[in-house]
Amino acid sequence: MGITYQDRIPNNVDLGSNRTLQRALEHWQPHFLGWWKDLGPEGFQEADVYLRTATSVDAKGWATYGAVKMPDYRWGIFLADATQDRTIGFGDDFGKPVWQQVPGEHRSTLRRLIVTQGDTEPASVEQQRHLGKTCPSLYDLRNLFQVNVEEGRHLWAMVYLLHAYFGRDGREEAEDLLARHSGDAERPRILGTFNEPIDDWLSFFMFTYFTDRDGKYQLKALAESAFDPLSRTCQFMLTEEAHHMFVGETGIGRVIRRTLEVMNDLKTEDPAALRKAGVIDLPTLQRYINFWFSSALDLFGADVSSNAATYFATGLKGRPDEARYEDHLCTDSVLEIERPDDAGKIVTESVPLRQAMNEVTRRAYIEDCAKGVIRWNRLIKKAGWDVELKLPSERFRRAIGVWAGFNATPEGQPIPAEEWSRRQDEFLPSGADRAYIKSLMVQVTEPGKVAGWIAPPDRGINNLPVAYEYVHLAA
Ligand SMILES: [Fe+2]
Ligand SMILES: [Fe+2]
Repeated sequence: MGITYQDRIPNNVDLGSNRTLQRALEHWQPHFLGWWKDLGPEGFQEADVYLRTATSVDAKGWATYGAVKMPDYRWGIFLADATQDRTIGFGDDFGKPVWQQVPGEHRSTLRRLIVTQGDTEPASVEQQRHLGKTCPSLYDLRNLFQVNVEEGRHLWAMVYLLHAYFGRDGREEAEDLLARHSGDAERPRILGTFNEPIDDWLSFFMFTYFTDRDGKYQLKALAESAFDPLSRTCQFMLTEEAHHMFVGETGIGRVIRRTLEVMNDLKTEDPAALRKAGVIDLPTLQRYINFWFSSALDLFGADVSSNAATYFATGLKGRPDEARYEDHLCTDSVLEIERPDDAGKIVTESVPLRQAMNEVTRRAYIEDCAKGVIRWNRLIKKAGWDVELKLPSERFRRAIGVWAGFNATPEGQPIPAEEWSRRQDEFLPSGADRAYIKSLMVQVTEPGKVAGWIAPPDRGINNLPVAYEYVHLAA
């Protein structure tokens, strides 16, 4: 079904045929807009931004581009087209028809899954609200805002499900999604990482590369759900999410390219000399990778989890790309995982596969993260330097799961607690690193100009030149 844009809330779910639901969402809409104006991008609400808006859910050509003031963005409800006669792809009910309504016995669990996913969407907008003040270019500023408006739309996607399928509880949860705020002492966002402000652009690129990619894997797992409206919602969100990964991967790639340029000019990899020249040395970049990758791994939850087993058994949440596996029941299989025993010795253990679903998803995520690192290392090698960026070991700096509190180097080598504390600044961004990165953050808003610590992008948006005025600032 096509998207109706004449409605107050653009949608492809025939919202007009359900007056009660439409009115409830129209009631929520001004609350959302109020939240956007209060806690969305600070200082740019009047700017004209070259944004894409969804105009169909077709895999190719679903977006149109044009200058929009962000509060006028057409946030709406877009579900991927239904698959005829879709059946449940995994778990105890494998092969049975998918659900168009929420089965009573799964109501509270599904609601919690949707709320937890939904909460991260506005949280990231809140975390990133001050970044516009230090954008390295108008191109980057526009990409930030594109990510922000789409995270806002992802909130709409989850709120629609809550309103349409969870009655009064759902409506209350939808209100709460606007009442919790990132970093708020009284009512923080649900997941810890989403309460840390992101106030420099290196962190923003790390966030979109590592943390948004966790989001991608959660959405992939939910896209397999037996609850069909959730599956279709997540499928379309994934189409939008691809751009967020692109921003992260190319952002970090451009930082590396710029650093390599200066390394070759000055013929040195000495961090002090590179910092003097105003670029980000590769060891600092590695410490940022160590930090962001290890916190993202925690987002997948415990390696051995009875909740994960229940989600799989009941059909609520599958494995990302479930179709790539042959066994969709997983009743007799095991997964080998490493863990430290009570004496701190590393042992291998067989875990019933259903209980290890978080770990299965985490491994798929790690594989995906590694791809960008390979591309970054290619840039370094091509520039003639013998340096390699690496993802840290999954044993490194974990707070959740079997490695929680385990002291290991980024290579995964166990070390005594004393050594762990002593070498913190070698492993993770130090106060001095953060202060240096912060010192680089100066706003550049002249069309075509780019800050000195990052290379210009290879190409512009939607075939426009790099120097296009992607954001027209209000006078
Ligand atoms: Fe999102
Ligand atoms: Fe995202």
